[in-house]
Amino acid sequence: MKIAHAKNPLRGTISVPGDKSISHRSIMFGAIAEGVTEVRGFLKSADCLSTIGCFMDMGIEIEEKDDVVLVHGKGLNGLTAPDHVLDCGNSGTTTRIISGILAGQSFESTLTGDSSIQKRPMRRVIDPLQEMGADIESIRDNGCAPLKICPSKIHGTHITTKVASAQVKSAVLLAGLYADGETTLTEPALSRNHTELMLKAFGADLTPGTEENPTASIRPGKPLTAQKITVPGDISSAAYFIGAGLIVPDSEILIKNVGINPTRDGILTVFKEMGADITEQNVREEAGEKTADLLVRFSALKGTEIGGNVIPKLIDELPLIAVVATQAEGTTVIRDAAELKVKESDRIDLTVKNLKAMGADIEATDDGMIIHGPTPLHHASIDTAKDHRIAMSFAIAAQINDDVKPTDIQDSACVSISYPDFFKDLDSLMVNS
Ligand code: S3P
Repeated sequence: MKIAHAKNPLRGTISVPGDKSISHRSIMFGAIAEGVTEVRGFLKSADCLSTIGCFMDMGIEIEEKDDVVLVHGKGLNGLTAPDHVLDCGNSGTTTRIISGILAGQSFESTLTGDSSIQKRPMRRVIDPLQEMGADIESIRDNGCAPLKICPSKIHGTHITTKVASAQVKSAVLLAGLYADGETTLTEPALSRNHTELMLKAFGADLTPGTEENPTASIRPGKPLTAQKITVPGDISSAAYFIGAGLIVPDSEILIKNVGINPTRDGILTVFKEMGADITEQNVREEAGEKTADLLVRFSALKGTEIGGNVIPKLIDELPLIAVVATQAEGTTVIRDAAELKVKESDRIDLTVKNLKAMGADIEATDDGMIIHGPTPLHHASIDTAKDHRIAMSFAIAAQINDDVKPTDIQDSACVSISYPDFFKDLDSLMVNS
């Protein structure tokens, strides 16, 4: 798709779609709860539809009525053996988290996904689940999907992870529901805690970790009970409009109903440190998740250092943050973010390559990037490797392309992975300007 630069400031009010992490979990936990879970604001994107497909293949009825997704849960032991391989599509969250549920089932299953999923590291879930007694293996013995999971006895274990990953944490805690004793998991820094908040609301006997002590624990034996869930807007989708509002001159954008759970709000912390004019309005709680409207205004930004415990709180936003940093005065250093290399694409490599093509002063490091700003950006052809977050980040960079030719976002349809209406919503801000 060819995107011309914004001719006017971006102005208006938008609502971003439901949070992807919470949408996945609402289906997964609803499926193994007793009763009908009602989900409002569910994100109907390709990734979340992959999760729905997997649970329908395991005998769960999932339907939509008046914009509410109804999950007819069958309890912890109510899933049935799928008669074919479970297809997780492009979704790492689906693949990794449901492997924890499957580890506790009395039937055999095989999980796989598209070519990107089949290259992503799964050792991080295989190893801790095996430590708990699970019979899980990488069929090609290369640490990637397809994964084969056979019935086994799960033991309560203490797991220590090397990466702060909510997907790994969730897989272990879910396997813990089927264990013979308490399961605890310590991560190097607190990752997003939607699983802990939501599983507790469903009735699990769970103690969440904290910023000071990132150890979560779960004790088996309690059934899960269906819930009514209202999914807040996804801060990872709002991120693109926050970024656009900050770098397109004279813009002012109100983004309604954004989840600002403290384990996800790193982008707000970092942008505010850089001098961003972002105001949180109408702060409230929706289904245990902190939510607000965000008013974003064009701002003079300065470079900053981003590393340490904030990284898991903004990991998916880093390509967009790099785009914004090209417009900040001074140097921005992103470190401790080697995880970016094993996302839907190598996001360090693609962010640096594409921003260089647009004229930015940026270099890759082993675990991040260094950006010197401000630099004007020019049109380029953007290699997205079909990674939705790269496509959307560069659609924002394209807004400030300073020449007449448009920026070409290759394979732009990949935005449907997390935000099918992204280009329509971006357009709506131009119409209003
Ligand atoms: C997610 C966790 C993060 C994030 C991903 C969604 C989740 O991955 O990057 O987009 O829903 O748990 P990791 O757990 O691998 O860090």
